[in-house]
Amino acid sequence: MSRTIVVVGASRGIGSSIVHQLASNSDFNILALSRNVERMKASFKSYSNVTCFALDLNAKDVRSQCETIFLNYPSIDILINNAGVLVNKPFLELSREDLETCYSVNVMGVMETVQAALPKMDKAHIVNISSVGGFQGSVKFSGLTAYSTSKAAVCSFTELFAEEYKDTFIKMNCLCLGAAQTEMLEEAFPGYEAPVSADKMAEYIVDFALNADQWMNGKIIPVSLSTP
Ligand SMILES: NC(=O)c1ccc[n+]([C@@H]2O[C@H](COP(=O)([O-])OP(=O)(O)OC[C@H]3O[C@@H](n4cnc5c(N)ncnc54)[C@H](OP(=O)(O)O)[C@@H]3O)[C@@H](O)[C@H]2O)c1
Repeated sequence: MSRTIVVVGASRGIGSSIVHQLASNSDFNILALSRNVERMKASFKSYSNVTCFALDLNAKDVRSQCETIFLNYPSIDILINNAGVLVNKPFLELSREDLETCYSVNVMGVMETVQAALPKMDKAHIVNISSVGGFQGSVKFSGLTAYSTSKAAVCSFTELFAEEYKDTFIKMNCLCLGAAQTEMLEEAFPGYEAPVSADKMAEYIVDFALNADQWMNGKIIPVSLSTP
């Protein structure tokens, strides 16, 4: 059965890997979204089932940008909200712009993408990618106040959405990822070696996105080797 799958934040890291893994199945019609459309086109050029679109989640018109992208697609079966931005700064040094960027991309961008996708959804699974740092009771890291609080908001959004849409066939779940080796991690924590590769993390996310809505809705799941 053919499925239309939207991957937001597909130009690099985990999102890029998610698209590569999905694209090997010709039954999937994949929409790859992020700002760097040239990088996506180069990376996915060998797949006829991947279409790339420019999207900036740090803009005022995310909902209408997404509505335009989705216009020619009759339905969306899976939406993976993977895009994210990380600011690593001591709390007192955080500027208004730092806070706004994190909340705009990581929270409002996710909500507005969902708003644009909903009219195209009948039976669907929405997967939000949060961080273990935004998971209550998890190990926390200095300097990640803007980032981790925004990721906590994504967890909360997941529960609220699931409640509001519980009588529909649209399910939303949230994965709180632990460290995976990507450019984001390298930029934020130079020299740190994550226990999991981007490809390995993507493998879990792909399987979860394709299957988990049969068993769960509104769930927030840590995908991490760290304790707590
Ligand atoms: N790597 C980790 O250890 C880790 C741990 C916990 C959670 N996560 C989460 O996992 C997700 C993927 O992380 P990653 O490590 O793969 O990050 P990454 O390598 O930095 O990739 C982030 C993706 O988000 C997109 N993006 C960033 N700002 C955007 C914007 N304004 N509009 C649209 N797209 C935007 C980027 O594309 P463009 O630059 O082309 O726009 C890129 O494709 C993120 O949500 C991150 O918070 C990662």
